Amino acid sequence: MKSLIKNIGILYGIQPIEKKRLTGNDIKTVTHIENAWLSFENGRITGFGNNTSLPELSHFEEIIDAEGDTVMPGLIDSHTHIIFPKTREEEFKMKIEGKSYEEIAAAGGGILNSAKAMQNMDSEDLFNTAMQRIQDCISMGTVAFELKSGYGLTTETELKILEVATRIKKLNLFHTKRTLLGAHALPPDYKQNRTAYIDKVKTEMIPLAIQKELVDYVDVFCENGFFTPEETEDILTIASQSGLKAKIHVNQLSVSGGVQVGVKCGALTVDHLENIGQAEIDILSGSSTMPVALPGCSFYLNMPYTPARAIIEAGLPLVLASDFNPGSCPSGNLLFVWSLACIKMKLLPEEAFNALTLNAAAALELQDELGSITIGKEASLLFFKPKTTLALIPYHFSMSKPNLVMIRGKFRS
Ligand code: NIG
Ligand code: FE
Repeated sequence: MKSLIKNIGILYGIQPIEKKRLTGNDIKTVTHIENAWLSFENGRITGFGNNTSLPELSHFEEIIDAEGDTVMPGLIDSHTHIIFPKTREEEFKMKIEGKSYEEIAAAGGGILNSAKAMQNMDSEDLFNTAMQRIQDCISMGTVAFELKSGYGLTTETELKILEVATRIKKLNLFHTKRTLLGAHALPPDYKQNRTAYIDKVKTEMIPLAIQKELVDYVDVFCENGFFTPEETEDILTIASQSGLKAKIHVNQLSVSGGVQVGVKCGALTVDHLENIGQAEIDILSGSSTMPVALPGCSFYLNMPYTPARAIIEAGLPLVLASDFNPGSCPSGNLLFVWSLACIKMKLLPEEAFNALTLNAAAALELQDELGSITIGKEASLLFFKPKTTLALIPYHFSMSKPNLVMIRGKFRS
């Protein structure tokens, strides 16, 4: 079906198809057209322009009146743990009373708490609760999701989570990428035998997930008290021999050596980066690995923010994502992430927008499908009322909300 959106107040986020990831001056710029139209067919953009070039309406089977709205590409969440068994608000209280993230984990909370609850969780419930969270995120502007496992920590349960992720992917409503995070925490019964667990990740989880076609990427939590850089390299090497690229958790709580391992192993992204210095920035500069900042996690844990300004000034393609999970960031609201990036990390609204759209698409290898207003890409769009400057959206922190969300040409919220 041929569709036309007319009467767009302002259309943001136009990019040529050659732009795959944005750095330098490009990340500081958002191109727009005032008083615009956009056409699409079979969910993909076929044209756009100023009203002076409005096509003949009779050529279209569907006409959508944007009534002067602001329209922009949908946001992309390249880092989520959205498939989780239950919320952990008891830890929220411990945190308020002064316990650190590490102390809560050491007291049996944290990832192990979720992993315990996950063992008996019915797949149907897991699917339904994840879909409810996804729908909430869509209504706040997210149009594509990464889905990690990592709350299973047994081969059977990690695969159960990836099966749920695959069921969501097969609905084919929006783009998803599935990431195996078997090395998220060491299960207590492997305390005396770390190598046996790492072997299980390498020889059972990775091969079975690939064989059953349940996985797109591999992840490791490379951190003091979790997995060392050597163990991370060991797992990533096996993954890469099987054709799986890495997206890894690094330098969240300490200068862990994770950035170095990620770059050495050709990771697609290194995520968190709250604790990095010039050495890590220099290493990233000589690589194609993308840096991903998760300011919602810093906000919730009251911890340092990733030095995103320095990352951008070094000419790197910064990505922003939510890290939606029950322990360190119980929110998947990327519009709030946009505000945090501006308020706490001193990014300009345009820089944060580019880090949440085209660069975020590249962090999931979806840069040819999503992330900008470009002919041939998907018509996955946000409509905001009324016509507004880009800055007004992050400025109204926690207040901004799209009035309509379109994914592949269909309104989903
Ligand atoms: O990205 N850092 C490791 N994993 C999650 C937290 C998981 C949890 O606490 O449940 C994160 O912050
Ligand atoms: Fe995470």
